[in-house]
Amino acid sequence: MALLELDGVSRRYGALVALDQVAMKVEEGEVRAVIGPNGAGKTTLFNVITGTVKPTAGAIRFAGQPIAGLPSHQVCRLGLSRTFQITSLFPEMSARQNAQLAAQARHPRRWQPFGGTRIFKEAQALADAALEQLGLSAIADRPAGLLSHGDQRLLEVAMAMAQQPRVLLLDEPTQGLSVEETGQAVDTLARFLQASRMTVLLVEHDMEVVFRLAHRITVLHRGAVIADGAPEQVKADPRVQDAYLGGLD
Ligand SMILES: Nc1ncnc2c1ncn2[C@@H]1O[C@H](COP(=O)(O)OP(=O)(O)OP(=O)(O)O)[C@@H](O)[C@H]1O
Ligand SMILES: [Mg+2]
Repeated sequence: MALLELDGVSRRYGALVALDQVAMKVEEGEVRAVIGPNGAGKTTLFNVITGTVKPTAGAIRFAGQPIAGLPSHQVCRLGLSRTFQITSLFPEMSARQNAQLAAQARHPRRWQPFGGTRIFKEAQALADAALEQLGLSAIADRPAGLLSHGDQRLLEVAMAMAQQPRVLLLDEPTQGLSVEETGQAVDTLARFLQASRMTVLLVEHDMEVVFRLAHRITVLHRGAVIADGAPEQVKADPRVQDAYLGGLD
């Protein structure tokens, strides 16, 4: 059984079909890239999987359990955590505090009164472990807003990891980074993915990054899946080349 499975998933905005009957299976331990031109539906796909947006049709199963239409906090609690295309950290708080808040957000009730220091320590331990996984231990006490752009993007990944997800969704982790910053961030991500064997869904425009990190690639064009397979297979697919060259318009 696939860990994450989508079947006929659609999302309309009025007349616009942002997702058109998307079918997809992600196996445990797989790094799956989702690529496609601007407006293809990549972020919408993340939004419907994580419950930020409800699909207008279709089924989504996580570990066999239907999750389509569940609110995002419930989806997160089940074990799907994401980063956002736009940076979403608290700049005045330290990297550690940001990761700690993320850890607490997954199980809000666990952190209510009477928990005391044990619970605080638990969140801190999850935060520290996640920062370590993303190579950020040395800068854990710095305000997040003062970190380099590359480290800020890695911190967002650490925040998602502090929630101990079974599936990690990364929306353009290298967006806004220079070529050099991208290289460093991707080196760290590659090491992290290798060591953790996380199941990952990755949206990424930079094809070098995609081919370096992904085991398998799904190509979206105007909301529909036009190709799905191993990187070499997808690269050679004439429909994919056409979509990027505007040939399907
Ligand atoms: N809330 C919304 N209301 C109306 N239309 C929307 C909404 N969200 C997305 N869309 C439309 O759905 C389509 C898919 O958008 P989406 O953001 O998923 O694309 P994307 O592949 O992530 O693009 P990018 O590469 O630019 O991030 C676009 O045409 C977009 O304008
Ligand atoms: Mg997007």
